[in-house]
Amino acid sequence: MANNITKKWWHDKVAYQIYPKSFYDSNGDGIGDLPGIIDKLDYLKDLGIDIIWLSPCYCSPLADEGYDISDYYNIDPRFGTMADMDQLIDEAKKRDMYILMDLVVNHCSDEHEWFKKACEDPEGKYGSFFYLRNKTDGELPTNWRSYFGGPVWDDLPGTDKQYLHVFHKKQPDLNWENPELREEVYKNINWWLDKGLAGFRIDAIINIKKALPLRSYEPDRDDGLCNIHKMLKDAKGIGEFLGEMRDHTFKKYDAFSVGEVFNEKPEEIPDFIGENGYFSSMFDFNETVFGSSEKGWYDAKPITPDDYKRCCFESQAKIGDIGFLSNIIENHDEPRGVSRYIPEGECSPQSKKLLAALNFMLRGLPFIYQGQELGMENVPFSSIDEIDDISTLDEYQVALKAGLSPDDALNAVAKYSRDNARTPMQWSDGANAGFTTGTPWLKVNPNFVSINAAAQKDDPNSVKNFYKKLIALRKNPEYKETVVYGSLEPIWEDVHNLMAYYRKGAKTLLVIGNYQMDIQTVTLPSSYKRVLVNNYADIAENGQTISLNAYQVLILEM
Ligand code: GLC
Ligand code: CA
Repeated sequence: MANNITKKWWHDKVAYQIYPKSFYDSNGDGIGDLPGIIDKLDYLKDLGIDIIWLSPCYCSPLADEGYDISDYYNIDPRFGTMADMDQLIDEAKKRDMYILMDLVVNHCSDEHEWFKKACEDPEGKYGSFFYLRNKTDGELPTNWRSYFGGPVWDDLPGTDKQYLHVFHKKQPDLNWENPELREEVYKNINWWLDKGLAGFRIDAIINIKKALPLRSYEPDRDDGLCNIHKMLKDAKGIGEFLGEMRDHTFKKYDAFSVGEVFNEKPEEIPDFIGENGYFSSMFDFNETVFGSSEKGWYDAKPITPDDYKRCCFESQAKIGDIGFLSNIIENHDEPRGVSRYIPEGECSPQSKKLLAALNFMLRGLPFIYQGQELGMENVPFSSIDEIDDISTLDEYQVALKAGLSPDDALNAVAKYSRDNARTPMQWSDGANAGFTTGTPWLKVNPNFVSINAAAQKDDPNSVKNFYKKLIALRKNPEYKETVVYGSLEPIWEDVHNLMAYYRKGAKTLLVIGNYQMDIQTVTLPSSYKRVLVNNYADIAENGQTISLNAYQVLILEM
């Protein structure tokens, strides 16, 4: 039954992630921009979106596509101006919409003032904003492997020191042990909240606490290095930083914050997203990380419908009434969800709708990633030269070193490439999918001729209009309480390729998905009152027995 959670302004909302570089280009330079987002606000409003998360658009050399910030107080000219940002916040407000920015404070860019000053004077104030160690011949301070490959240490230019970067070498880690650095971070957050932002998505945050004193761990590959998670497991006390950040910033504004949190321990969940948690919410990555391998992407194992179901239910059970998860099918760091969670060769409007409904009806805050509402799919990459993402380029090398042929390595990493999600948004079947009048910075998925927003707009059976229906159900005054706050109870959990669950509140809803091509029969435990959502025109039923069609999904009021 509904629960004791304290209601928050954002609970009943629907969120949407924009990757600005690939959303809509207003000036023909091939790069999406803030005026482009303003142009498309009505599209989002019409879909039913309330909260918009923007991936970074601050000044950046774009070594990691904006997740390397050189000025936290300015907009990169490629994305627009501060006036555009102010206008975006304003225009969103007019439409009862909220803007979140991305808070990237585990690291900055090596082109940030702080880092430049640290190079000039490593012993000075800014030297202690980073993790610096004296350089010793033939030995690194620790043997940790960066997320993007290679050691986490590089020479601090012009000095006899080295600096730590758990991501790319152009992303030096900030030293959160230093109270002066923390003050700078809070000042920046509050500056943006004062401007009228509704909150932040918080990037890579579990990395801010290092296990001290820094030390090496057991190597786990031939390179003699070890996975960063070995160190993170050992790092205690992140809560002190996160609690301080909440109290100095978000809490004062009743701002929404959603953490990119991996590997949290079950006993920590209340601290993270419970009443007075560090964050309002955190993403559920249980499905995302399924099948990943210590060895690299080339060794990852695909996820089956039964695995997908198990992952979703596991997270739901773990969180229960403690707080609100943020549910995703994909984001800018992942392949397209329809290409990943629907078995190969079975992607169709029906199966895409099934995935949408099963995910959207989970308890929590739904996030839609740009193009997901159109059923955008992975990209057929035919050469590694078509790939921009630094992470994919590294994983390609890892695969080659493991002995894969160049073709096999490409096939293996292309499936997981972050660029699958980063190709331009498919607005129409016109030139460059209507994304730009210039040359797009990243290739357009050739399937834009059939999968695009214009084609789906007036087609009542389109994937997009199905998303609209799901959103409308979440907002329908009659069902809202149940969809937002109702408990989740799995049913028929052990039935192969069937994912079904109740949402129970003032109403009782039953979500049933036949996660396969073959017809499957279920007998309802009671009769239903109404069909709220169906991705087919009819239901084949005989009394309480229903024959579900290929990838048929139903939301029934019981
Ligand atoms: C997060 C971002 C990812 C980025 C990384 C480093 O995981 O989502 O895009 O590369 O942090 O900032
Ligand atoms: Ca542009």
